[in-house]
Amino acid sequence: MSKSFKNKVIYQIYLKSFKDTNGDGIGDLPGIIEKLPYLKKLGIDMIWINPFYPSPQKDNGYDISNYCEVDSLFGTMNDFDNLVLEAKKLEIDLMLDMVLNHVSTEHQWFQKAKNGNSYYKDFFYIREGKNKHLPPNNWQSKFGGSAWNKLNLEENKYYLCLYDKTQADLNWHNPNVREELKKVVRFWMNKGVKGFRFDVLNVIGKNQDFVDSVDSEQEKKLYTDTPIVHQWVQELHNDTFSKIEDSITVGEMSSTTVDQGILYTNPKRKEVDMIFSFHHLKVDYENGNKWSSVNYDLNVLKEILFEWQEGMEKGNGWNALFWNNHDQPRANQRFGDIVNFPFETNSLLATTIHLMRGTPFIYQGEEIGMTDPIYSSINEYQDIESHNAYNKLICEGLSDEQAFDIIKTKSRDNSRTPMQWTSGKFAGFSSETPWLKINENYTTINVQRELNNGKLFNYYQCLIKLRHNEKVISDGRFIPILKEDTEVIAYLRVYNDQAIIVFNHFKNSTYSITTKYLKMTGDVLIGNYKNVIRREDKLTLRPFESVGFWIKDVKQLLNALE
Ligand code: NOJ
Ligand code: CA
Repeated sequence: MSKSFKNKVIYQIYLKSFKDTNGDGIGDLPGIIEKLPYLKKLGIDMIWINPFYPSPQKDNGYDISNYCEVDSLFGTMNDFDNLVLEAKKLEIDLMLDMVLNHVSTEHQWFQKAKNGNSYYKDFFYIREGKNKHLPPNNWQSKFGGSAWNKLNLEENKYYLCLYDKTQADLNWHNPNVREELKKVVRFWMNKGVKGFRFDVLNVIGKNQDFVDSVDSEQEKKLYTDTPIVHQWVQELHNDTFSKIEDSITVGEMSSTTVDQGILYTNPKRKEVDMIFSFHHLKVDYENGNKWSSVNYDLNVLKEILFEWQEGMEKGNGWNALFWNNHDQPRANQRFGDIVNFPFETNSLLATTIHLMRGTPFIYQGEEIGMTDPIYSSINEYQDIESHNAYNKLICEGLSDEQAFDIIKTKSRDNSRTPMQWTSGKFAGFSSETPWLKINENYTTINVQRELNNGKLFNYYQCLIKLRHNEKVISDGRFIPILKEDTEVIAYLRVYNDQAIIVFNHFKNSTYSITTKYLKMTGDVLIGNYKNVIRREDKLTLRPFESVGFWIKDVKQLLNALE
């Protein structure tokens, strides 16, 4: 079946914060319908919508209690069907979030298991506790605390929950579980959905011995990227989405490797089309600890990006390209200077990944330069992970202020603030108080203003058009250059007799580089400054400048590369 994800751009909608149409302060499906023309104007091909299924919302919808319904919080099934229809009219496809690793403890499967139903007990990892009072092993939940929780008060039985204790991990070793989950995927396929984003897909194959781990690294290996995951993903592929023409699938892979990435995405293996990996977004973690606050090193970032670009290309794998999503603070605050160079920072980040080999994802608000909010109290954050982390930091001896400073830079709520549509009441997001406090800068950063006077939205439009139109961007080889340079991320893309060269200057200063490739450059492909300062083999880059050139003579370039 023909596949065309290489020249597509996907837009992520965090539904709860996108557009509220019924005044309850929560974004909804009719809100997406209302904004489809806006998305069409941007030029994207597909929208990924975060979970909108019935859920107690302990982890904002990633705790699903019914896979085949719409939570009334977000609208009705009729709204969803309308969304499919309306999006189709504009040639926009939908990608749904499939959270198949775990269900909410309110899901009927779990409720039945809890009530002793043996068929459903085997849907979960339920194990006897150790020595009466201890969980079956020492594994830790990714949201803090033990990865096991008591099934009920009477027995010494625990269920595995790698995330929140209200998210029970499903036992994929049980073929009945896999069949039920395939039914879920087919249900949405039958509604016209073509895209699927599989939540934490690489942790579905736990080692069932459940031995104690020696350290956190070894612990992850006991349930991450185990060989059986590939077998199950192939099974899912074969029994569900392989039946749709032009399906697009992406697996979210926590702590994975390039080698595994290739196994997941090489088309011959029939698993998924692409993966999200996160190593490039951990460069500002101190010794791998997210809840810390340190500056990043450009060369480390570059090394990771290049490793994934080159590695995946070598093994014919494919990357999903992204800086932002609903689990990350906004990248513009991490990697740029949004006070003095907001447009340059935002467009630099976009250029860097949109011209790489992979499929770019734009997270809502990125195209207008939204930023992290400045909250003044931990109570303004809603996210469960942030609260757990805050409490842990306090227990570890940090002062309220120190702990709060870390939460401010790392909280997932940073990117979850309501979309800023206008400078009017509640940023045009809702007529009532939103579920999460709006970023106060909405009077200056909003869609209305951006469309009237801004440059960023237009810049994104250009990047999207380039991917649609230029084979060298969608299909070209990736060749890193200036690897050791400490200020610039630069690379070539080559496809038959077409080639481009791209320079991205990640620093807040003026900087000149000399390279033999400059002599081969022709017209400017795209750039975030009006003109370019280029002389023979020297290019002068201003703060956060990005510029791409066409290469005039590709033969000459290829000779120079040898
Ligand atoms: C990854 C999702 O993106 C995140 O928001 C969620 O908390 C975890 N998976 C658990 O489902
Ligand atoms: Ca609403």
